[in-house]
Amino acid sequence: MTVSIDTQFVHPDIAQEAQGLHEQACTALAALAAGTCRGKEWTGFFDYPRQAGFDLNQRIKTAIAQLPLAYDHVLVLGIGGSFQGTLAVHEALTHSYHHLLPSNRPQLSFCGCHLSETLTLECIDALDRSEPLVVVISKSGNTIETALAFRIIKQYLVQRYGAETAYTRLITITDAERGSLRAFSQKHNCLSFAVPNNVGGRYSVLTAVGLLPLSLAQYDTDALLQGAASFFAQPHDKHNQAVQYAVFRNACYRHGKLIEVLSCSDPKLRACADWWKQLFGESEGKDGKGIFPTTMLLTTDLHALGQYLQEGKRHLLETFLTITNPAHNAHGVERRLRIPASDDDNLAFAANKFLHDINLAAVQGTQAAHCKGNVPNINITVPQLDEFHLGYLFACWQTACAISSALLDVNPFDQPGVEVYKKNMLELASSN
Ligand code: PA5
Repeated sequence: MTVSIDTQFVHPDIAQEAQGLHEQACTALAALAAGTCRGKEWTGFFDYPRQAGFDLNQRIKTAIAQLPLAYDHVLVLGIGGSFQGTLAVHEALTHSYHHLLPSNRPQLSFCGCHLSETLTLECIDALDRSEPLVVVISKSGNTIETALAFRIIKQYLVQRYGAETAYTRLITITDAERGSLRAFSQKHNCLSFAVPNNVGGRYSVLTAVGLLPLSLAQYDTDALLQGAASFFAQPHDKHNQAVQYAVFRNACYRHGKLIEVLSCSDPKLRACADWWKQLFGESEGKDGKGIFPTTMLLTTDLHALGQYLQEGKRHLLETFLTITNPAHNAHGVERRLRIPASDDDNLAFAANKFLHDINLAAVQGTQAAHCKGNVPNINITVPQLDEFHLGYLFACWQTACAISSALLDVNPFDQPGVEVYKKNMLELASSN
């Protein structure tokens, strides 16, 4: 198995509670796979790579090869599920200092995921210095953050390139038939892809929503789909990793653990953790129920939240996400970094050790310490950070989230509560 889940730091009472939930979780997985669960009209994400994803990816590659223009910058406009997965892959796999390094690869950037005038102006500065291709992603077509950014960027493109050429620099991803973005795409004959009807925003990273921008930025989207397909091929029994994760979470919840911290062993997982946070927060937090998801980057945040995790209020559970192989495997070349010897500090033990091994020791030490401090934790171990394993994690977490929501008896696919802020914002913005 490529990805493993280790439960050695789960207290026996919670482990026993989890055992008792296996049957219910397996029934939920079977209903998800059969498309008969609550919210069944949104279960299209399950097994999507095999059902449609690989074929779609071929069509996307063909369309990209036929683009009638050169570009060195891919700007994604979208919010929530319409951009979070693409950002997760990008941040995990791109060089963290890429802005200081020469590159032949198109740069990927994001806007339309906030209402910041400053950031939007800075986005226009970046457009000015590049030959951009803009991908607008909105399933509904009327999400305010994305729609307003789109207006601004569309005007920029028209002013810079003229109306006809401007629209060849715009690709849309939206509902197949409905909404203003679909109507716009038809009117201007833009290259366009559909968000499948039966896939919700935060479950859509393996559809055109993620595949198109990631392909444009030259990520290995076949490997992303293969990773997901390899998760979906797991048997639908209690050994399924999504079942294991869901029962651990729910057992903790039943023991008063109301907050889950996803603790990542590498800061490159920051956006991946944000994707996880959106998935679980928006799916489970309803009807007065749900675990509040939050994230921590090791070891940075141990110097901020470590004290609370160890000794604060005991309503926490923790999931560690650990990357085993640290090597920056660019072009198949493995690179490692040993710590030099030094007489200038009192850390003699570190001499000649790999930095990553010290990091792993910090993760393992933290797991044991937090367990002792009554924070039950599991460890999800991923051999290396690449498209395959990110695809695997996306599929595993989406499935676990659907099962976990079923154990809570909430619909994992809607988000009725998000409308409240939108209504208030529209009222206030219209009256100002
Ligand atoms: O998970 C969801 O459905 C949401 O987070 C949406 O992705 C988000 O609100 C963006 O919606 P849209 O794609 O319609 O602009």
